[in-house]
Amino acid sequence: MTDNAGNGEGRGRAFFSEPDTAGLMHRAFTRALGFDRADMDRPMIGILNTFSEMNNCHAHFPELVDAVKRGVWQAGGFPLEFPTISLGEIYLTPTSMLWRNLAAMDTEEMIRGNPMDGVVALCGCDKTTPAALMGIASADVPAILVSGGPMLNGHWRGQTLGACTDCRRLTTEYRAGNLDDGEYMEVEENLVRSRGHCMVMGTASTMNSLTEALGISLPGNGAVPAADSRRILLAENAGRRIVELAAEGVRPSRILTREALENAVTLLCALGGSTNAVVHLPALAGRLGIDLPLDLFDQISRRTPLLANVRPSGAYQMEDLFYAGGISAVLRELLPLLHGDAATVTGKTLAENVAASGIVDADVIRAHDSPLKAEGGLAIVRGNLAPSGAVIKHAAASPELMRHRGRALVFNGIADLQARIDDPALDVEPGDIMVLQNAGPVGGPGMPEVGNLPIPRNLLRQGVRDMVRISDARMSGTAFGTIVLHVAPEAAVGGPLALVRSGDEIELDVPGRRLHLNVSEEELSRRRAVWRPPEPVYGRGYGRLFLEHVLQAPQGLDFDFLLGRDPVETMAQPKY
Ligand code: FES
Repeated sequence: MTDNAGNGEGRGRAFFSEPDTAGLMHRAFTRALGFDRADMDRPMIGILNTFSEMNNCHAHFPELVDAVKRGVWQAGGFPLEFPTISLGEIYLTPTSMLWRNLAAMDTEEMIRGNPMDGVVALCGCDKTTPAALMGIASADVPAILVSGGPMLNGHWRGQTLGACTDCRRLTTEYRAGNLDDGEYMEVEENLVRSRGHCMVMGTASTMNSLTEALGISLPGNGAVPAADSRRILLAENAGRRIVELAAEGVRPSRILTREALENAVTLLCALGGSTNAVVHLPALAGRLGIDLPLDLFDQISRRTPLLANVRPSGAYQMEDLFYAGGISAVLRELLPLLHGDAATVTGKTLAENVAASGIVDADVIRAHDSPLKAEGGLAIVRGNLAPSGAVIKHAAASPELMRHRGRALVFNGIADLQARIDDPALDVEPGDIMVLQNAGPVGGPGMPEVGNLPIPRNLLRQGVRDMVRISDARMSGTAFGTIVLHVAPEAAVGGPLALVRSGDEIELDVPGRRLHLNVSEEELSRRRAVWRPPEPVYGRGYGRLFLEHVLQAPQGLDFDFLLGRDPVETMAQPKY
């Protein structure tokens, strides 16, 4: 019999060897699945499957599950697949972020409730990876993450297309009258040509790449395309390795340390990765009892060169990054800035994992001494408009707007924005600063990705393609523009953003890390006295739970009662 926890006390073994009725039932009912005692003597490995036909990014997961199972059987384990909810970015309304915590709870509780000795978590689309990370961190059963991998590049009329940077860019051109209906239809047909998650450095590619820096996935997880046969091998290898990891009793808490989180932030900055990671990593840190303040992101960004020439900050896409050496090559280049001795699920250190890697194409992945930019892609700005901080991805912004003073044009919510943005009578100038209120964690609700406010049609026709935009919302990691996000505290809980009025002057100074509303304290006090919070969107159910317990952006929007972890110990079975 395999000693799956290294001490003869594995959860699967305890479950099947329970005396009397309980053990009999566990074994007899498992035989109904077609397994026998020899199977039940093996360490039980759960395969967390987030497949759903309403999540196109995960469409190929049945094949990956088969590969993981193959690996688990080969290594002497007993694989059992189980579902958790799937969060498809495209299908869910108002925002998939509303359910990230629900998915993390589902993950944690299914790992806790079922007698598995280890788990391989399949993830990929934007929220499924952070949810899996948070769930496995809190349950703390040996685990490896396997993502579905990025899509192949889209191609149209000689252009490489990327989801969904080009969804926005080409829609902007369509709205401006530069594409006709037929061309817009051709874009639709040519944009997403394979399974997998979005293939620019959006939230999904960012988070799945960061799993390599966190040490919780096998090397290759970030960039091997979904359609590449090596993605299947990666899944099979994860199946083999999780059996060893379970036997060694290596739990996520041994891997997901402060050093690992700092490595992830460094990689995030070098990739010009998604601002959504500035929400998801603090949420993960909260589960681990580690403080990951916004200022650490700024500190690390200042010292980390931008190495990945990948959209929306650069010119290429994930498929190109893979051919250029993958995330391992980026990590190897970053080693002087990393905790190279951090433990990983391979059993080797991070530095050992990437030792044999190298840059194959120096235009896609820049060397440490010839970066795309000397500093990483993110900055944290503060001021009387964002006392608890706000985020800007300046690597994907207009350099001429990095220091900007302008007149505020305020929208008091998403409905107001939609109603007025294309009104020909809208009073807006190219130098104005657009402000969106009530789109944060509570106000959104769920902090939807609407921070990249569309440019008013009036200005689009004048050729304007970027303006400073400020909100308490998030934005898609695939978006481009001079966009200040995650303003905290948010407007809906009375943050200063709620007090801005059209015509006020706002000053953004990214090099000085400053965001200031040029309105006197006396006037702000007057406005505060008459401010009233918006009506809650939900009165019952999960929505109400969300509104009552969600934390602000710097704490990662986790629920206050989910902070910390509660490691799963050997299961004590009830006697029947
Ligand atoms: Fe799933 Fe973009 S839609 S990652």
